[in-house]
Formats: sequence, structure tokens, C-alpha cells
Amino acid sequence: MVNYIVKKGNKYWPSKEMKRIAWVTDSKIYKKAEKNPVKFWEELAKEGIDWRKAWSKTYEEKLPYFKWFKGGKLNFCLNVLDRHIGNGHKTALIWVPEATDERTIKLSYKELFDKVNQFANALKKLGVKKHDTVAIYLPLVPELVISMLACARIGAAHTVVFSAFAPDALQARIIDGESKILITADGYFRRGKKIDMLSNANKAIKGTKVNKIIIVKRLNKKMNYRKPYYSFDKEIEKYPHYCMPETMNSEDILFVLYTSGTTGKPKGIVHDTGGYAVQSYYTAKWNFNLNPDDVMWCTADIGWITGHTYAVYGPLLNGATTLLYEGTPDFPNFDRWFKIIEENNVSIFYTAPTALRMLKKYADGFTDKRKFSKLRILGTVGEPIDEETWNWYFKKIGKSRCPIIDTWWQTETGGTLINALPGIGPFVPTISGRSFPGTRHEIVDDNGKKAKKGNLVQLPPFAPGMLHGVLNNHKKYVETYWKRFKKKYDTSDGAIMINNLFRITGRTDDVMKVAGHRIATAEIENAIDKHKQIIESAVVPVPDEVRGEVPVAFVVLKSDKPSEKLEAEIKKHVDNTVGPIARPSKVYFVQDLPKTRSGKIMRRILKNILKHERPEGLMTLINPDCVEEIKMVVG
Ligand code: WT7
Repeated sequence: MVNYIVKKGNKYWPSKEMKRIAWVTDSKIYKKAEKNPVKFWEELAKEGIDWRKAWSKTYEEKLPYFKWFKGGKLNFCLNVLDRHIGNGHKTALIWVPEATDERTIKLSYKELFDKVNQFANALKKLGVKKHDTVAIYLPLVPELVISMLACARIGAAHTVVFSAFAPDALQARIIDGESKILITADGYFRRGKKIDMLSNANKAIKGTKVNKIIIVKRLNKKMNYRKPYYSFDKEIEKYPHYCMPETMNSEDILFVLYTSGTTGKPKGIVHDTGGYAVQSYYTAKWNFNLNPDDVMWCTADIGWITGHTYAVYGPLLNGATTLLYEGTPDFPNFDRWFKIIEENNVSIFYTAPTALRMLKKYADGFTDKRKFSKLRILGTVGEPIDEETWNWYFKKIGKSRCPIIDTWWQTETGGTLINALPGIGPFVPTISGRSFPGTRHEIVDDNGKKAKKGNLVQLPPFAPGMLHGVLNNHKKYVETYWKRFKKKYDTSDGAIMINNLFRITGRTDDVMKVAGHRIATAEIENAIDKHKQIIESAVVPVPDEVRGEVPVAFVVLKSDKPSEKLEAEIKKHVDNTVGPIARPSKVYFVQDLPKTRSGKIMRRILKNILKHERPEGLMTLINPDCVEEIKMVVG
């Protein structure tokens, strides 16, 4: 079996074979790119993407905004589909349904092209115009990819909302994006059970501008398609296999994706067309040594940025095959993912530490029977990976012959930014690596001075895939990313520099990573506070073996007495307003929450109490007495 790595000292490096096949092998690329990053990206953009018109200015910076490839024109969908149609029989997408007795679907580039064009025509006919926003609330089905690409073809921005989000969360995103059309499904399968989606969608559209709902049939429910409902399948059938791709400006919006900030209101992160195309194309290609004959499986749901960039856009821009799996890792048992990898010749596998911790715990026994002989590159993303989990991944899945690419990035950055490249290395547990060529990051202390440990920031010129604002909220954009460190993009992550490589330590703000999903404490608190029996609440994360962190809630009641029933009700309430990922694992009923004189809830003190540490800074509290009471409640 081919070995892609060698051990030298206590580090892993690319083997000769990896050096032979990797796109990038000379570490001089970093220096070269740093000398003139704008020129570096310009050359990549010319080579990797088909433009309809060349740009007049490669990079323009007027902080807090900046533009890439200004004046350049292109169509994103054309780059994904039309340019691969010469090899149209090639599989673009493998879709594995959750039920084991249902057939895997494979769509070739030509088949995907046909469907995307048909659906693009349908969207146009239904009134979608260039620059409109289309809301997509779909489970992991091929129609999701078709919908995104159809939007890109006609120049409409898509905003994909994760399928497990509750009606309120969906509604807030539809309103903010001003979508008039919603693409959704009758439901989906989870561990063999049918999950309804349509009733969520129906609740969510109330009070919004949505006047057309296109429905994908996944559960085969009987439907009567009367206005405002349209059938995805029937619409597609009506139209020809070609729709002229719109010519878009490089800076036109490709999509908006909502993510949690430190306040309760999610932010609509705006991504453009040209810059994002360049970064998603090259990061997919270089990080994962991606070739057209590869099968790449990025396990993230397309409702998150990882799914956007590495389950859809990155692999398809490269003419490779992307694999999508509808279900959970444990259905019908924990061998499921391994079976999918082997049966579909997956060569690049990209997942999250939370999934790996779960597999380590429950699926270890299945790994020895598997050879994973086609695997070449492993990736991880979403949260820091601990050494033990890294080693398990390396040995049990990588069979000690595949590099692990630990990619640091964010919804805001559009594509990966800090990681080792497979042809250069090194691959070191808990360390992400260096800034992608042509990008620069540094660590600064709280005063903005360069340090070995502290806050991770990005330096100009900002990467082409970076966000171009928060939708409808300039103030938020400035406050979140540009206020703290002058002219440097604030990532809100902590980092440590070790031998010139970055180790990312995690969020420094009130954002949690629950099973890799980003969720603001304030978002959960807002949901809880809407419950009629509650005066106020504070949510803090506690460590969890598999999920990394889970939320715990402290609540102050109006008149009701604490009870198990009420606890269950509050959890359910969070499920129904945000979604099950935000559900507190425990609810503590307390008389009062620790507050500063200015009324700010001191979550840090609650964290101390949960960890049985001595809380510090009690002097700053206006109500220090409540600390003893909370200690008693926590026990
Ligand atoms: C946050 C962004 C875009 C990837 C999926 C999550 C954390 C991401 C790593 C990594 C340590 C990581 C950071 C970041 N994070 N990748 N390799 N090592 N931490 O996107 O939901 O926008 O979350 O995920 O804390 O800020 P997201």
C-alpha cells in the first residue's frame, strides 16, 4: 500500500510519493507569495478560473471593505459545470441515502448540468431575478446542490439554512435576506425515522415576503400543489437543458450564510463571486491534493460553510467527484461511514474532531476490518483536535500512511486559511500549520502587540475568499471584525505560535462549539428568555467527551417552582426556537445571576462554579451572595 508520509524526528512529512503527486512541494512558495500576495493571487485567478472579462484592478482596499478582481466578470456555475462538460460522463456527485436498501444516486457532470440548467430556467420563470436572494432549507439531497448551482447560474444569491434549524431561526434568516422564494422538502430520514420539514417551513414563512415554495419530495408524501406550492420535480421537467449563465461582477454576491456572533442575532455573512471562486478552487486543490479522478467526502452538512466550500464548490470547480451522505454515522451501526468510504473509493476524507471523537468511542472495533486502501488525504476542521483523537484518526483511519490536514478557517473566511500543505508538511498533532500562501496571520496580545500567544488576526491584503460585509449591518461588521485591532481582521480565536506554526486554541468570545457547530450563548439565552416563566438566563459551555462543549443554562424563574417538567419544557422550547443543537444539557434554577455593577452577567463565574474552581473577581459583583446559592444548586 502506498505510503504518503514519512516520520522524521517526532514529526511527519510528505513521502517521496506524496512529493511526486502533490500540486505544491516547494516551501519557497510561501516566501514568493509573501513578496507580492496580490500578484500571487492574480496569477492563480487567471489560471484557475474562467473569466468573461478581465479585471481592471486586482485588489482594492478601503477598510473595512476590500475588493478582489474589480471589474472582472464571470459566472460561477459556468466554472463548475460548463467547463467540465467536455468530460461530461464523469461522476460529479455521489449521493448515499441513509436507508441501506435505497439506491445510491450518481450524477455525471452532464446530468448535473442538465438539471441545474432546467432548474435555473424554472427559477427564472417563477420570477427570480439577478441579485435576488433565494432561501434554501433542504436536507442533504442532490436537489440542494442543484438549487445552489441554479442560483449561481442566474445570478441570484442563495442563503442555505441548516435543515435542523427551528422555524424561528429559519424565519429570521428569510426576513433578513428578503427572500421571496423558499426551496424546501417534505422532510428527510434520520436513523430510519421520518422527519417533517414542511410544517417548519410553513410556520417560518409567516410574516415574510415568501410567496412561492418549491418542494422536494423526499418522503413521498401526498401533496396537492396549489399556489404558493410548487413541485421541484414537476418544475424541472418543464424546461430545456440550457439556460444562459448570467454575467456577474467579481464582487457580486454569490451567497449569504448566517452564523452566530456574540449577540443573539445571527449575522448574514456575505461572500462574493470572484474572490471566493479563486480561494475555494485553490484551497480544495492544494490542501487535499485534489485531482479530477478523486472522490472527496466532506462530511459536513451543506447548511454550514464547510459543506458549501468543500462538499460543493471546491470539488466541483476542480472537476472531481463529491460524495454526499444523507444520514448519521451510526445508522444502522457505527460501521456505516467506513462502509461508505470503501464502497465508493473515497480518496479524500474531511471531517470534524467531534465526529472523530464519536468514532473513536463507538466505532473503533470496526476499523481493524477496513483497509481504507484508496484513502490518500485526511482533513479535520471546526475546532481544535486533541492529540489522542489525532493519533486515533491517523492510525485507525489513515492506517499510518496518510497526512492529516488540520485546516483552520471560519464561515467568514470562505475557505481554509491556516494548514499544512500535503506536499510540504509537517503534519503535527494539535497544530494547524502556516498561513496559506498569499495570506498572512499573526498573534497579538490584547493591546495589539505582536506576541507568541494571544489573539489570532489576519493582515492585509485580506484573502480573496473573505467576507464582504454583514448583510444589512455595516455597524455589526465593523464592530465584530475591525474595531479591536487596527487594520487587522479579528478572528476571535486564540492561538499559540510553536516553531513558526500556528496552534489554534479556540474562541475567545462568547461563542461555543457544540459538536463543531458554532452557537452564541446569547442566542440560546434569547430563546430561553422568551419562555413565559423566565425572568432571565445565562448560558455557558461545559466540556463534553464527544461534542467538545455543550451548553448549560442557569435560569431565574418568575413565580413557578423549579421542576423536572419545567426543565424539559425549557429544553423543548430551545429546540423549537433555535434547534436541537442549542439544547442545554442541563438547566439549573437559581434565585439570581452574578452581575457586575453595570448589569453584565458574569458567565465566567458560572463556568468556575461548574468546574468546581474558585471563582475570581467576586469583588466586581453587585450581588456576590448569589454565588454561594448557585454553588449549592450545582452541587
Ligand atoms: C470557528 C469557526 C469553517 C470551518 C467550520 C467552522 C473553530 C475551525 C479549526 C481548527 C481549531 C478551529 C475556530 C473558528 N475552528 N477550524 N482547524 N482548529 N479551531 O466554521 O462555524 O464559522 O466556526 O471554528 O474557533 O473561529 P464556523
